[in-house]
Amino acid sequence: MAISSTLNVDLGERSYPIVIGSGLLGDFALGDYFNGPDCLVVTNETVGPLYLPALQKKLPPGSAVVSLADGEEHKTLGNVERVLDGLVASHANRDATVVALGGGVVGDIAGFAAACYMRGIAFIQVPTTLLAQVDASVGGKTGVNHKKGKNLIGAFHQPKLVLIDTDTLSTLPDRQLKAGLAEVIKYGAIADLEFLGWLETNIGELLDKNPDALVYAILRSCELKAGVVADDEREAGRRAILNFGHTFGHAIENSLGYGEWLHGEAVAAGMLMALELSNIGEDASGRLRNLLEAAGLPVCPPAIGAEKMRAAMEMDKKVQAKQSRFVLLRSLGDAYLTSDYDAELLNSILRKCDS
Ligand code: NAD
Ligand code: GLY
Repeated sequence: MAISSTLNVDLGERSYPIVIGSGLLGDFALGDYFNGPDCLVVTNETVGPLYLPALQKKLPPGSAVVSLADGEEHKTLGNVERVLDGLVASHANRDATVVALGGGVVGDIAGFAAACYMRGIAFIQVPTTLLAQVDASVGGKTGVNHKKGKNLIGAFHQPKLVLIDTDTLSTLPDRQLKAGLAEVIKYGAIADLEFLGWLETNIGELLDKNPDALVYAILRSCELKAGVVADDEREAGRRAILNFGHTFGHAIENSLGYGEWLHGEAVAAGMLMALELSNIGEDASGRLRNLLEAAGLPVCPPAIGAEKMRAAMEMDKKVQAKQSRFVLLRSLGDAYLTSDYDAELLNSILRKCDS
């Protein structure tokens, strides 16, 4: 029997559990969360062969499957349409359930298709990357990229269940594990100094995929995210702190071409740029830089050019009344959203992208 922990995302009638543990994929009674018999699994060509057979044992016989090409560059409206075509082809009704099996790309596409089909059907997240387990699968942000901007097209649509089988991380490439650690470190930086200290002590264990360390990091990250989402589901305010480093990070991803740097890599460099803009001293910057470096993540932006970065940042979703807003830190563990930042300092930070 699988060993697991459960926590709840508290959103009234849209509340749902996050179940975290080892051996859940072939063991958990997923069907209890279905509204009806119709089910469509969305996965990709890498994850499907690894984990679909175990998951299928817990799904209704005859469940449909859509397998997508792998990669951030495939997070497109075209692939949302493929999932919708799959639902239509299988005559799925309003009580159908979409199951997303994969990383954040699969989860974002599948969730958005579920939000659109018949104006919204149920979906379940079965995230298989560290990044998706600690971030993308929780909180109901779904969507795809536009060539001019990251995640520009999407909807808020909460899953009915997030099922995290930590055994899936055994096959995750090291580069992807490190990219997930960027989002884990983000939680410490924005909201939990004690967790940041724990990460500094345990970063080696996490890189070695120590199961206990991974479960604790996932659990604490999901707790922190669930708390923020429960306070501000649709990002009217506080939820924006989850985007620490993302204004710079999304601009890096978009400017380089989707898939060139991984999302977590771009967020790592972006967090240090945002921390520099926070202007709270070298001690804090040095501490975060050391941790990101220890996690094997990039600590400098790529040489994209300041003007290209600035243009990409104009498409950031936090821009309001044409004014950029940034998530900055008052101190490590304490983030806030503001449009009051030092424009000269921003210029000098962006100039680092010139070389
Ligand atoms: P990803 O989905 O591209 O997965 C990374 C790679 O790992 C892919 O090649 C995938 O096929 C492979 N993979 C997945 N699970 C595996 C496993 N267990 N074993 C071996 N290989 C495996 O990338 P990601 O880092 O999971 O997610 C990044 C995406 O998530 C971005 O598009 C980002 O914008 C999005 N995101 C969304 C939210 C949200 O709130 N919705 C939050 C953060 C990130
Ligand atoms: N990943 C940011 C959010 O979910 O709000």
